[in-house]
Amino acid sequence: MPAPLFRPAIDLLTSYRPTEGVYGTAAPMRPLSANETPYDPLPGTVEAIAAVGATVHRYPDPGCGELTRAIARVHGIGPNRVLVGAGSVALLQALFQAVGEPGGEVVYAWRSFELYPALAELAGLRSVQVPLAGATHDLRAMAGSTTDDTRLVVVCNPNNPTGTMVTQEQLRAFLASVPSTCLIALDEAYVEYARTPDPASAVGLCEAYPNLVVLRTFSKAYGLAGLRVGYLLGSADVVAQLGKVCLAYAVNAVAQRAAEAALGLRDELSQRVDATVAERTRVRDTLLGRGWPVPDAQGNFLWLPLGSASADFGGWCASRHIAVRTFPGEGVRVSVGSAEDNDAFLAATADWGDGSGVFAREHSGETVTVVKR
Ligand SMILES: Cc1ncc(COP(=O)(O)O)c(C=O)c1O
Repeated sequence: MPAPLFRPAIDLLTSYRPTEGVYGTAAPMRPLSANETPYDPLPGTVEAIAAVGATVHRYPDPGCGELTRAIARVHGIGPNRVLVGAGSVALLQALFQAVGEPGGEVVYAWRSFELYPALAELAGLRSVQVPLAGATHDLRAMAGSTTDDTRLVVVCNPNNPTGTMVTQEQLRAFLASVPSTCLIALDEAYVEYARTPDPASAVGLCEAYPNLVVLRTFSKAYGLAGLRVGYLLGSADVVAQLGKVCLAYAVNAVAQRAAEAALGLRDELSQRVDATVAERTRVRDTLLGRGWPVPDAQGNFLWLPLGSASADFGGWCASRHIAVRTFPGEGVRVSVGSAEDNDAFLAATADWGDGSGVFAREHSGETVTVVKR
């Protein structure tokens, strides 16, 4: 019997593979693979979640009215410039779908967030991947890669997995050089962790550039990864267009209520973010002191560009019950977790290799390959 027919693009996709041992009943791993916060939900959010329990026989507010207005207040803009989605990935998908048509292109850096290529494929967009310069976006090259067919440019800032950021000056020059007919998406999933001298976020630039949208999430700093809620800021026209692409009722009532509660806890949030930033500095400085190559890290994770040694190191961490995200042949991304988990990770790095943890490091340009002696 002939098999059901699917779009050829589906055959090109691979299923998402979560890091082994993190979910399910296998031996628990130290969770340093998914860039989650190590902290419990913010105070009051669990109570807010429980209170919604009694109403779940009703549909949620399809327009996420209360949450949308709360987000708009935080950013000092009108609610018609805010779109809430079931995780920022749902909003990213809406963006790609909204502009995807045969012959269209999307430009993004590589390596960057691993979902972008799949979203492009699904939306029928051709991916134009612009190599990072070292570990950082090459915005000039990205602008130079746009053509009449470019419908979307995505900049992940801080970049997942390399952790680096572009400056406001670079961003302004970039925004001015990309055609206004092309949407520009700044994926700021980790921006709360950024400690740069100039403003980290592009939100302040939205007014001047109606083709700019900024994506934020409640999954990382806000600690609501399990509820799947994020948002997008942009011009009222772009928000209205994208709103038509998102499924109504996609953001459940529990997520809406919890996100609204979390949004009101600015002080608690910044204390936790500061603590994670301090841990990030501690772990990175320790690694740098031992000769590990670690690029500037502005998210809640570190990037170890280990090249051909990446799989070996990822396997070594797994054998020590530490879940990290391995990109074979390129590097390993490790989240900044609790102090205890970070210590376990540092111990693993010290023990890796020939027993003494000593590896010869060969530098070629900016790529660092770690090879076993
Ligand atoms: C760069 C980037 N964007 C978006 C997301 C997805 O966030 P959400 O949980 O809001 O879908 C992630 C999650 O890891 C991410 O790394």
